[in-house]
Order: sequence, then C-alpha cells, then structure tokens
Amino acid sequence: MSVRVIIGAQWGDEGKGKVVDLLSDQADYVVRYQGGANAGHTLNFDGQTHILHLIPSGIFHINTTCIIGNGVVVDPLTLLEEIELVKSNNVDIDGRLLVSETAHVILPYHKSLDKADEHALGQQKIGTTGRGIGPAYVHKISRVGVRIMDLLEPELLRKKMEINLAEVNARLTENYKAAPLELEGMYRQMLDAAEQLKPYICNTTNRIHKALAAGREFLLEGAQGTLLDIDHGTYPYVTSSSPTTGGACTGTGIPPTAIEHVMGITKAYCTRVGNGPFPTELTGKTGDELRDAGHEFGSTTGRPRRCGWLDLVALKYAAKINGINELVVTKLDVLDQFDTVKACTSYRINGTETTDFPLRSREIDSIEPVYREFKGWKSSTRDATSYDELPLVTREYLEAVADYLDIAIRIVSTGPGRNETLIIGDL
Ligand code: IMP
Repeated sequence: MSVRVIIGAQWGDEGKGKVVDLLSDQADYVVRYQGGANAGHTLNFDGQTHILHLIPSGIFHINTTCIIGNGVVVDPLTLLEEIELVKSNNVDIDGRLLVSETAHVILPYHKSLDKADEHALGQQKIGTTGRGIGPAYVHKISRVGVRIMDLLEPELLRKKMEINLAEVNARLTENYKAAPLELEGMYRQMLDAAEQLKPYICNTTNRIHKALAAGREFLLEGAQGTLLDIDHGTYPYVTSSSPTTGGACTGTGIPPTAIEHVMGITKAYCTRVGNGPFPTELTGKTGDELRDAGHEFGSTTGRPRRCGWLDLVALKYAAKINGINELVVTKLDVLDQFDTVKACTSYRINGTETTDFPLRSREIDSIEPVYREFKGWKSSTRDATSYDELPLVTREYLEAVADYLDIAIRIVSTGPGRNETLIIGDL
C-alpha cells in the first residue's frame, strides 16, 4: 500500500492536474479531498484539452477509481455537467466514480451569497471564483450544512434548505438590498440532481479503508495551493478549505501515518489569481511576457493571472507546512525565452533580511524580495527526453531550487502534453 498526496506548493494552478493524470496510471484510487468547483485541473492528451473542476484527474485512466472525498464541497449541477463531459469522451465511469455521502453540498444560494459578499467588500474583495465555496464551508462549520446524504431524503432536504434560505434571504435583502431567492425551483433542481447522482453516492471512508487494508495504491489530489490555505495562507486572501497535507487526512479519513509521499508541485515561476499579497509579482513587461508564454489565464474564471519570479522563501515555507519530500517543477519551458531568470532567496522586511515567511499582514505587505540571478538558457526545453538533455544552465537553476529546499526534484514538466515530462529516477 502507498499513499501519495499531491500538494499545490504555491497559490494554486501549479499543474497538479497533469501530475495526477500522469501518476494515475499506477494508482488504484485517486481522491479529491477539499475545495470544490473553484478548482480547474487542466489535462492535455490525444490532442484534446479537458478541464475538470470536481471529478478527480484520474478519471481518464480506466483502471482507476475516483473518489470525491468528504472534505469537498460539491455543486451537484456542476458535477452532473462534468459527468456528462467525461461520458461524452466514451469513458465508462460506472463503479469508478464515488461521491462521499458526508461531503457538503453547494446550493444556488451559496453562489448568490458569495457574489453579494464580494460585491460588498468593494476594494477589499478577495477575488473569489464566485462558486459559493466560502458560504458553503460557513454552513458546514456552523453545523447547518446540507450533506450529500441529505439529498436522498426529500423531507429533510426541504427542511434544511428552508431554514438556511430564510437566513440567507434575510442577509440578501437587509444587508445587500437584493431580491430574495425562491426555495421551490432550487429544491426541485436538487431532487432531480439527487436522482441522477444516487448511483455514485456511498460511504467512501469505508471503501477507502477496505482498499487501504487490501494494499491498494492511493493518490490524494489537492486543489488550490498552500498559500491559499485557510490556516497557513495569506489570510484573508485565501480559500475556505485546507489544501495542505492536514486537509488530505480530514478530507478523506486517511490517517497521517498512512501517508508515505508528499509531492509538492511548483511552477518554475509564480502566479496568483485573485487579490492578496504576492511578494515577487512583476507588474511590467516581464510579468506580461510570463503570462503570454505560460498562457496564464484562470481555467475556472478566465481571469488573467498575476505573474512573477519563483519565490523560494514561500516555497520553503510550503515544504515545511506540508512535509514535502518529493518536488515537481512544472512549466519550465515558459522560462526558455528569458535572458536572465531570477529566484527570490530572501525577503527584506523593514530593513532586516530574513528567509522566514512572515505571518503578519503588515510584514507580508512590506516584503522586498532579494533575488539570485541565473543566466537564461535561451533554447527550447520542450524536446528534451531526459533530464540530462536539458541545457547545463537550466539544470543549474533546477539544482539551485532543489538545494535551497533540500528536496529532490522527481519530475520536470516542459509542456502541457503527457509526453513533455521528464521523470528523474524511479517513482
Ligand atoms: P474561492 O476559493 O472561490 O473562495 O476564492 C478564494 C481565493 O482563492 C481567490 O483568490 C481565488 O482566486 C483563489 N482560488 C480559488 N480556487 C483557485 C484555484 O483553483 N486556483 C487558483 N486560485 C484559486
């Protein structure tokens, strides 16, 4: 038995989908453990691009069972659309897609609240994806949430939705002067969705533990990234779940002692979508060049991503929080065109240099990054078929990253395709 967690080591969008897709070949189970349809995991193969928001990225590997774990907040309507999309690619998902009965449901009123809350924040808005994530987790933590199992009990479902909607409507009408939402339509929509989702709903904790006992291989798929974590990220500019390793345990029911590998995924540079601190952000020409070369536009919302050089201080913090013991560097090819490549190795905060990631907002806001410069390689890395084929200066850059973190790089991705991947050693 082996359990490997795939963690976003930055602000999300590190290319986790591609890595999960690659490793799914060897996995019996792929389990999503937090977040919801705010994620967008992009997969490229057979000349096609697929973007998954909820279904684990292993679904295109026919021998892999994919689980939406208890820590996820599930939008039933998005899930149904995604099931249709996967089926339309002639992929048989019967018995291969399982949805936890204790996962929480995102209802249409969560999305309305998400948008109204953001609007009210004005300049201070978080820049959420508008998918209802925060409000759904608020209901979960307040112990009034609707769980997937409730969808199968029409009377209980109506009662819970009625109570929640009364509270939501009070906020919408009194605080935001918006029109109240009607229960009936969304209730019918949920009953209809429940009927279609019924075959996939089960006690996933039980299934997972039976499979663990039988020695099966697991991949636990994180969404978003460490710096968006509700506890360890740049609060309040974070998502409302725990993308870090701890979340993988609570969001699946797999104990920490079962986790063997924690694979941290980082781009060769940095991006962030939405508002909040970003110490190495480049707002000028170089930032634009990174965005163009990396096609850095959100896969869920289409928003342009903010771009900057790799931040090793933040990455080391992510490595510590998660216990990362394997590193994956993605989108290396995006740096191919630059004369000089930089990586931030320390922060100067109010005149003092540090390699510790600060937690106080005031300190984060006054970070001046200190960079190490590397000579650019100015040649395409996309055709390399092994790590040794990469130019010497490219390897120097990668080895400086591995040395700084004291973690071995196991995979380097040099393009979106499955074949544009260099695996170092034996996984
Ligand atoms: P929410 O998760 O929609 O509540 O958004 C909270 C913050 O997390 C915003 O800054 C979003 O842009 C960011 N975020 C949420 N999901 C993703 C993702 O999959 N990739 C990158 N950023 C994300």
